[in-house]
Amino acid sequence: MASTAPRITVIGTGYLGATHAAAMAELGFEVLGLDVVPEKVELLSQGRAAMFEPGLDELLARHVTGVSGATGRLRFTTSYAEAAEFGDVHFVCVNTPQRHGEYACDMSHVDAVIESLAPLLTRPALVVGKSTVPVGSADRLAARVRELAPVGRDAELAWNPEFLREGFAVKDTLHPDRIVVGVRSQRAEDLLREVYARPVAEGSPFLVTDFPTAELVKTAANSFLATKISFINAMAEVCEAADGDVVKLAEAMGHDERIGKKYLRAGIGFGGGCLPKDIRAFMARAGELGASQALTFLREVDSINMRRRGHMVELARDAVGGTLLGKRVAVLGATFKPDSDDVRDSPALNVAGQLHLQGAQVTVYDPKGMDNARALFPTLGYAPTALEAVRGADVVLHLTEWREFRELDPERLADEVAERHILDGRNALDPAVWRKAGWTFRALGRPTA
Ligand code: UGA
Repeated sequence: MASTAPRITVIGTGYLGATHAAAMAELGFEVLGLDVVPEKVELLSQGRAAMFEPGLDELLARHVTGVSGATGRLRFTTSYAEAAEFGDVHFVCVNTPQRHGEYACDMSHVDAVIESLAPLLTRPALVVGKSTVPVGSADRLAARVRELAPVGRDAELAWNPEFLREGFAVKDTLHPDRIVVGVRSQRAEDLLREVYARPVAEGSPFLVTDFPTAELVKTAANSFLATKISFINAMAEVCEAADGDVVKLAEAMGHDERIGKKYLRAGIGFGGGCLPKDIRAFMARAGELGASQALTFLREVDSINMRRRGHMVELARDAVGGTLLGKRVAVLGATFKPDSDDVRDSPALNVAGQLHLQGAQVTVYDPKGMDNARALFPTLGYAPTALEAVRGADVVLHLTEWREFRELDPERLADEVAERHILDGRNALDPAVWRKAGWTFRALGRPTA
């Protein structure tokens, strides 16, 4: 790549930022990642991420300066001065969690980035927001950049939402299914076209919009996905009442191309650091804009979703004879989805926690999420393998659909448990196989026998 290529900084090195930084280096750019947590920077500087994300450590190690055999295109720092001096394009990738006790999201990290970076911009720069924010934020932040940057109008803002999924972050970042840029100048558009030239050449659609539309694409997309999941979970409730099978129902519906098969997996619902807080922040923002009626359906989407967790607890109580007190419950899965170590708002851990609070002795096993789960719920029991987790259990709950759990041998597990009861909270196990091995098998939205 010619030396005139824009130099890139990535501010915030969580799931989004660490992946984006490594992907930008992979695309050939010189990249400087910034985080305010020195431990993260230290780890990343050795070519390792603080979280588990398939393929990410390999990508980091391929580019981080100082790692043997690496291209050296990627470095990390805690210094804003260094970032401001280095970068032509600054990607803002910090998180926007739900505000304590409110639906709205907490913009303090995004605001802190702009307040720290903008006063140091003494040369032309494009600040590109990627964090998920309430619509209207880009307009406000653009004004702040203009006010604070010594270089004046040569410092600009753009909005470029990110659609990566945890577990597929590397693939989604290198080969995005679309690139959306909210811009206010040709210069900003041209710079972003240069940054994304390779994925665009490979076929990723590049959509240019105004600020509010770019911000809305992200929240609208996540709201649609949440709605689709809650729709099928509502159908699971109806199936249970009518003795239907939601898995077959979803399969049959999915053959209609207008509906599609994806995101119709019924179970204990959606969790994670994005979908739950994004639909709530979207409702809160619509309220501020006087459009709350447009999104009241999201309240129902949220409550269907949260109801699934309670229903799973009820099924567990039924399975052990009506009371959880002193019963031994094995929970397989702690993360909010497989191939991630993320336990933020995890339905699996939420169910485990509720069971514990109702007097059950809960033992959790997860292939990657143990440390994070233990930090969040230190009072739960933890076992180092699935087999040890189920030892002596009165009921086994399958709550995160890791491949490892699909490959468990029901005959082998039967030797370990006290009672052969299994509940599938993800509709990912084969009921026939488990029943054949003498288990009572129950799943959400499926017939009992
Ligand atoms: C989600 C979106 O899918 C991404 O496009 C978006 O970029 C990201 O949020 C974000 O805002 O950063 P992610 O949180 O990684 O990505 O997780 P998903 O794969 O969407 O899964 C979310 C939850 O829904 C998980 O708990 C999963 O188990 C659940 N789910 C998913 C279902 O219960 N059923 C389904 O059919 C699909």
